[in-house]
Amino acid sequence: RRRLTPSAIQALKGERPIVSLTAYTTPIARLLDPHVDFLLVGDSLGMVLYGMESTLGVTLEMMIAHGQAVMRGTSAACVVVDMPFGSYQESREQAFRNAARILKETGCSAIKLEGGTEMAETVDFLSSRGIPVLGHVGLMPQLVNTTGGYRSLGRTEREAAKIRRDAKAIDDAGAFAIVVEGTVEPLAREITASLKAPTIGIGASPACDGQILVSDDMLGLFNDFKPRFVKHFANLAPQISAAVEAYAAEVKARSFPGPEHTFTVKS
Ligand code: KIV
Ligand code: NA
Repeated sequence: RRRLTPSAIQALKGERPIVSLTAYTTPIARLLDPHVDFLLVGDSLGMVLYGMESTLGVTLEMMIAHGQAVMRGTSAACVVVDMPFGSYQESREQAFRNAARILKETGCSAIKLEGGTEMAETVDFLSSRGIPVLGHVGLMPQLVNTTGGYRSLGRTEREAAKIRRDAKAIDDAGAFAIVVEGTVEPLAREITASLKAPTIGIGASPACDGQILVSDDMLGLFNDFKPRFVKHFANLAPQISAAVEAYAAEVKARSFPGPEHTFTVKS
């Protein structure tokens, strides 16, 4: 199949649920490509791949390098690259300059940025100048220092009203789809029904128009913490541990490499 476009993804709203996962590397992107509508090169890579405490330390150069890697591994999925903290909040011109760099240097077809009413002008500026924008409202990890922590939102009327306003502003500004993160079900359902753009939920109930998860989470590549919204569709961490344990034992016992792994010369 031909690579999906952002507008083709937008058109899936009301047709069928939209399927998405994160990807950061070529081999994983290659495995996911046939099964998803879009892949997000998320700035979650700061934590998932680089062991950072938050996404704040991720740079534009890191996002471009991983965006290129994911593009090399895909032919069908639409690829969206996250704009890292500090690369778009200053002005709509800064956002355009850095978003254009991402598109030009990776070949991806859209960017994602976090924000509500305060980012609406920027979303309109980019999308009216040829850069499709995936919005991101609700829990916004890049705001961890001002909004304090990772918890689900929308239980109080004050929180709900803000998320409602944010989603509407980004929708009106022309986002082709909007990630809704960490948001309670009734609010996610209401927003989904009221927006033109499809909502892509993560910890935001089955009511959204699509779902996204961090691939490493759903594959069970970590053993530590599993948030409520994650399902382990596989549990790869114990398999990797067992494989490495077996390798170490065979090396120590000199049973690996065997004759079948050994280059010899004919006498
Ligand atoms: O960075 C990321 O992986 C994300 C998704 C979880 C939406 O922003
Ligand atoms: Na992100």
